[in-house]
Amino acid sequence: MKQKNKRGFASDNNPAVHPKILQAIIDASHGHTIAYGDDIYTHQAIRKIEEHFGENIAVYFVFNGTAANVLGLKALTNSFNSIICAETAHINVDECGAPERFTGCKLLSVPTSNGKLTIEKIKYHMHGFDFEHHSQPKVISITQATELGTVYTPDEIKAITDYAHKYDMFVHVDGARICNAAASLNLSLKEITTDVGIDILSFGGTKNGMMFGEAIIFFDKKLSENFKYIRKQGMQLASKMRFIAVQFIAMLQNELWLENACHANKMAKLLADEVAKIPQIKITQKVETNGIFAIIPKKCIEPLQNEFFFYIWDENKSEVRWMTSYDTIEEDIFDFVKLLKKRLK
Ligand SMILES: Cc1ncc(COP(=O)(O)O)c(C=O)c1O
Repeated sequence: MKQKNKRGFASDNNPAVHPKILQAIIDASHGHTIAYGDDIYTHQAIRKIEEHFGENIAVYFVFNGTAANVLGLKALTNSFNSIICAETAHINVDECGAPERFTGCKLLSVPTSNGKLTIEKIKYHMHGFDFEHHSQPKVISITQATELGTVYTPDEIKAITDYAHKYDMFVHVDGARICNAAASLNLSLKEITTDVGIDILSFGGTKNGMMFGEAIIFFDKKLSENFKYIRKQGMQLASKMRFIAVQFIAMLQNELWLENACHANKMAKLLADEVAKIPQIKITQKVETNGIFAIIPKKCIEPLQNEFFFYIWDENKSEVRWMTSYDTIEEDIFDFVKLLKKRLK
């Protein structure tokens, strides 16, 4: 058991709920409202999401990110399809095989150095079309920001969506950290999704200050035709939907999503700048959002973890992952760096 409630650098899932989000839940917690999403809060949350992504979309709320990915992918595929993704993709390594189990599809993963797919890498799996012995490629799934904290530019995404659509395929974006990506690029959510041709987005809220809840956004309403049944069969239809919805309203009004994401990114940059001054540390990925990957001497990992918990990313390389979040403060960074320097002596 780790130290009780001490802020560390383990995950952006670890912080408490943002006070404005919690207040929104409290404010909505009175009286009766219709269950299963036919309530004013859910309608208002969908309107808010439309303000950010454009109007011609379909929006469905679910409890968590794995469900958003799995059910979204299910809506786009048949069991004889395959889904191309990066080797490091959450759907490939951190969902306990749920995408394969619930979609029946084969995941075709590609090694990358930075978590990002490119056309060149995707091409490796683009064969066997119309051949009944081969699973049929149907979806390219990318993660924005990636599991390695890197970011796709709008042009890079557009190149992938244009390519996918040429083959009658779809592009799914795991946007557990899409807010951090938009903040990093200094672009709107629409500019990195709707405007670059993606088909479906898992829009993450939990890592950016919410208690729980993600939205699945379809950019072509036709693709969502059967989704209400898929969500129910997938056990993700929340009866008290208003409590997911109000969190999204609070997140999307007054730019709280951007404020939180900018702050987390800024703290990561500060931590990266500070550790970059230490010769024994090697940062291994571009620090574009709120994650830092670094190779550090093995001997200091455990003592550091005892004070500021974080995860080892690659045991063999002695590579660790430090995540910052909306509630990281500068003092955390300076205290951590001070301790790091002490442990390196
Ligand atoms: C890239 C990515 N996608 C999706 C998720 C969502 O996972 P969960 O089902 O734990 O909410 C996570 C959480 O760690 C993630 O890092």
